[in-house]
Amino acid sequence: MTVRPLHFNAFIWPNGYHESAWRVVGDDVRGVLGLDYYAGIARIAERGLMDAIFLADNIAIAEYRVTHLPQTQFDPVSVLSALAAVTTRIGLIGTGSTTYSKPWELARRFATLDHLSGGRAGWNIVTTVTPLAAGNFGERVHLEHDERYTRAHEFVEVAQRAWDSWADDAVVGDRARGVWAERSRLRAPRFHGRFYDVEGVLPFPRSPQGRPVLVQAGQSAAGLALAARYAELIFSGPASLAAAVAFRTDLRARVAAAGRDPEQVAVLPALMVTLGGTEAEARARARRLEELASPEFRWQNALYTAGFDPDAFDPDAPFPRSLWDEPAPSSRAGKLLEAARARPDAPLRDILKDLTGGAGQLHFVGTPEQLADHIVAWQDAGGADGFTIMGSTLPYELSAFTDHVVPLLQRRGRYRTEYRGHTLRDHLGLPRPRNNIL
Ligand SMILES: Cc1cc2nc3c(=O)[nH]c(=O)nc-3n(C[C@H](O)[C@H](O)[C@H](O)COP(=O)(O)O)c2cc1C
Repeated sequence: MTVRPLHFNAFIWPNGYHESAWRVVGDDVRGVLGLDYYAGIARIAERGLMDAIFLADNIAIAEYRVTHLPQTQFDPVSVLSALAAVTTRIGLIGTGSTTYSKPWELARRFATLDHLSGGRAGWNIVTTVTPLAAGNFGERVHLEHDERYTRAHEFVEVAQRAWDSWADDAVVGDRARGVWAERSRLRAPRFHGRFYDVEGVLPFPRSPQGRPVLVQAGQSAAGLALAARYAELIFSGPASLAAAVAFRTDLRARVAAAGRDPEQVAVLPALMVTLGGTEAEARARARRLEELASPEFRWQNALYTAGFDPDAFDPDAPFPRSLWDEPAPSSRAGKLLEAARARPDAPLRDILKDLTGGAGQLHFVGTPEQLADHIVAWQDAGGADGFTIMGSTLPYELSAFTDHVVPLLQRRGRYRTEYRGHTLRDHLGLPRPRNNIL
């Protein structure tokens, strides 16, 4: 059996992905607000030859979060642009909202990152779950789930036209003729759709990758349809190996049905990891994190990540019946509504205990050998092409992954021993997209 090399994406979060991480790491609590923190993590991930680092985006925070977690939600493209200067190979994936951006403007920002990084940019396409974003952007309403996704299709179409608005050979730099670029090799989008109107070309030539790598993490039917049509890298949050296999199998079928090659799409489930030199040590580290976890945070976070405003709910009362028949703001909210209907008199706090917050990922606790075995088993079962690694604490877990898990995977012939190319597309084995227009 020939196995494809694994791919890894490092999820960067302040002090680590576990909610208690900031309470156990010894660093200055304000360190996560400085470039050094991000640069340190990016360098560790690059030392581990990982495909990319990933930055999430939350464009509205519910205020409960400031009590429980470090709040460092900078603009991802700004942070990644700074990281482009202190790394040379690793991919730089940032999240951007189709609901609260304009397509030309977003296409420009990610293409800027692609130029400045020499072809390492990726865009995680989200439609934004939290209704609180509307208020920050001067919108009266937060669009409903399926409408957000309908717009997202058109948004990505237009962004692609913007990225393709210069032919690859447009810049000629002909000093003798006095022609920097051939005007005839431009093709303005002149797009007039249901939701967007975009006229002109981007204000700079096509970027090194042609288009940044498209990434997607939605789990609903509408989210999967968007992924199947456009995404080249997919994050998921499966709760078990069986769920991961079912998800990846279904997604690959949808990709093929959309007329694309499933081999050109990598599925990297999110996995929170806590590592230790021995299993007992790893378990003790994880136990300490769990002991510090706050039940208050858990119910608030489960509501927020499902797309509700936690301040609007009483945790000791049942889930309001008035919301039962409202459209669910996300796939996770759909699960919450189902649970609430099944136990109409139970306090919300109890119902939410069974629902995970965050990305819905599993928490792996063990030694590097055990993690390497877990990764290989998931790959062999067809559940993953690699993983989005979320260190429960950072940088500790990422260093341990790079120094102790990566060599095991290399020895087993599952992982690269050097970067072969320079762009994120090179790392992922993806072709450079042809310019559709010119
Ligand atoms: C690994 C991972 C990372 C995610 N990052 C973000 C993010 O940065 N911002 C965001 O708004 N949603 C993020 N999400 C949520 C999804 O993009 C998506 O919005 C959510 O699952 C709701 O869409 P759905 O109803 O299609 O599932 C992430 C999900 C996963 C699994």
